[in-house]
Amino acid sequence: MDDFWEVLNIEGNLDEAEILFSKIQNYCLGSFIEENLTKIYLSIESKNEVTNVLNNLELPDTINLKWEKIDNEDWHLMWKENFTPVTINNKINILPDWHFKDDINDSNVYIRPGMSFGTGHHETTSLMVESLIDYSNNEFSLLDLGAGSGILSIVGSKLKYKDIKAVEFDIECKDDFYFNAELNSCSKDIEIFWSDVLDWNDFSYDLILANIEKNIIKKMIKNIENTNARFIFSGLLVEDKYEIEKLLTKKNFKIENFKSKNEWLLIDCKKI
Ligand SMILES: C[S@@+](CC[C@H](N)C(=O)[O-])C[C@H]1O[C@@H](n2cnc3c(N)ncnc32)[C@H](O)[C@@H]1O
Repeated sequence: MDDFWEVLNIEGNLDEAEILFSKIQNYCLGSFIEENLTKIYLSIESKNEVTNVLNNLELPDTINLKWEKIDNEDWHLMWKENFTPVTINNKINILPDWHFKDDINDSNVYIRPGMSFGTGHHETTSLMVESLIDYSNNEFSLLDLGAGSGILSIVGSKLKYKDIKAVEFDIECKDDFYFNAELNSCSKDIEIFWSDVLDWNDFSYDLILANIEKNIIKKMIKNIENTNARFIFSGLLVEDKYEIEKLLTKKNFKIENFKSKNEWLLIDCKKI
């Protein structure tokens, strides 16, 4: 593991910062916002790729970018200060691991804030948790594409989804995923595959979640042939709606619901 993190500080307009964040979300290991400052944590290896992405964007005058290096210890301390419990639809509480109580409670999901995405604070995750709540009581089987910390699979297990499979290609998530599954007593309910979702071709599930960046979602949609699954995509911006809707319609998906939170979009659809 590196001794340092690269931090991209985006100063200024929070909406513009959020849009910029969506373009580099795939490289991001975590983020948090302090007043008008958005901090995005990246591994040292990804700095060049992120710089290339930034160089190809037209940045608005309302934001300023500054790079900073911090050591690993500081990262974990910052998370601790900023990870507060979140309750979603009065049904699921997402709590940091240091709140763990060894009690049997299907409402509480404990997450260690580490290097993986998925603490419940980001709109794309909470929109997905809301959908998991909406479709619970159906005894659905579940596929979680781009599992990160494991949060959606764990929520699925708490809500009694069956035959839960998760797919993630970033091996930096391994420690957090296994730790979180074990902490929530869900390890036996979730099977994880460490591979690229674009190589995944089994779509015989009742519910398939993909909280992944737009370009991966677009490639996935093109790969999906006949299936009865309900697909829920988040990781999209409201401004992506028309583009994704067009692609889904072309691939014979019927859109059953759109939901948004701030500038983030969720699409719920099925093949016809
Ligand atoms: C936005 S995070 C979502 C994490 C979690 N599911 C949640 O909802 O909070 C996206 C995750 O997808 C993973 N990912 C991105 N592209 C992927 C790919 N092509 N194959 C597998 N995983 C991928 C990233 O490593 C990251 O952990």
